[in-house]
Amino acid sequence: MSEAQMTAGDLRGALADGPALPRSIVSMLDVTRPMLEHCFRMAALLEQAPRTSCAGVIAGRTMAVMFYQQSTRTRMSFEAAMLRVGGHVIGFADPATTRAVGFYEETLEDVVRFTAQMSDLLVLRHPETGSAARAAQCSPVPVVNAGDGYGEHPTQAMGDLYRIHKHFGRVDGLTVGIVGHLGWRAHRSLVMGLSLFGVRLLVLEPPGSSMPDDVAQLLRQRGTAVEMCGGIGEILARADLVTTLGVYHSNFHADFDDKANVASKQSTPTPDNYRITAQAVAQLGRPIAVLHIGPIADHIDRALDPMPQAHYFKQARDCVWLRCALLGLMLGRAP
Ligand code: CP
Repeated sequence: MSEAQMTAGDLRGALADGPALPRSIVSMLDVTRPMLEHCFRMAALLEQAPRTSCAGVIAGRTMAVMFYQQSTRTRMSFEAAMLRVGGHVIGFADPATTRAVGFYEETLEDVVRFTAQMSDLLVLRHPETGSAARAAQCSPVPVVNAGDGYGEHPTQAMGDLYRIHKHFGRVDGLTVGIVGHLGWRAHRSLVMGLSLFGVRLLVLEPPGSSMPDDVAQLLRQRGTAVEMCGGIGEILARADLVTTLGVYHSNFHADFDDKANVASKQSTPTPDNYRITAQAVAQLGRPIAVLHIGPIADHIDRALDPMPQAHYFKQARDCVWLRCALLGLMLGRAP
């Protein structure tokens, strides 16, 4: 049967035809390679199945989004995914509208335990590192980490890996350039995910920063080949793909309306040997994929946007399908 003929029942059957995911997704350390590969298969199936079949996968289930930090992509990506697989969405995008802020300062644990009474799964973004683990510990329903301080952003990494797998047909054997600090949550999760495959990493850390010990230790344990680079030229010359968060970043501990965080915004332009320019990419004379999770700052030359090497918009689309698969696997399999 072709994907275009699949019914909701066929899709639910396919969900069961592979390894189960952990109850909650807090860290990429919770995810194995067979789990990831099953997510890729399901994402591809859901993308090609009729929309009406897709909408029957977890019909009637409810996801609550609890976003204590700003988001353009992640929250809407989860919401779009949940609607596509037939579920409902409740939640908050600004904690100032809840009792967590102001007079009561309701604890994370209480917000989690109350919200869980109204939903089947929680998606949490929070400024505090370790908050997703705290939530998963006390929640009666599964929790998905949508970014916790300087901790992790595992579903972003899963979506990025799906984009890479879809484009190259594999992850093994690729040389992956990474620009930015590996202690930033999306990079930490991505590197953890990449280390499940046979990749070579070319890393360009911001001036003055170095690879965090936990990441270095994991890469050693898993035997991942890593080379530290001195400039973007080294990466562009050798990588099959490059992903960047640049050199400067907002404070991941910042609360929703943290004016100090905005005031501290770097006014220094990204140094040239960290910037990816359209000219440098065009001059390579060979294919390279440029990924970016967004938001994009001056570390990418926007003349790159219309070029086939720019993958960031397609990457955001693939993240939705990967999250469809994730929600289906977390809520659509028989217990
Ligand atoms: N990719 C990502 O995490 O973007 P948002 O901060 O907009 O959710």
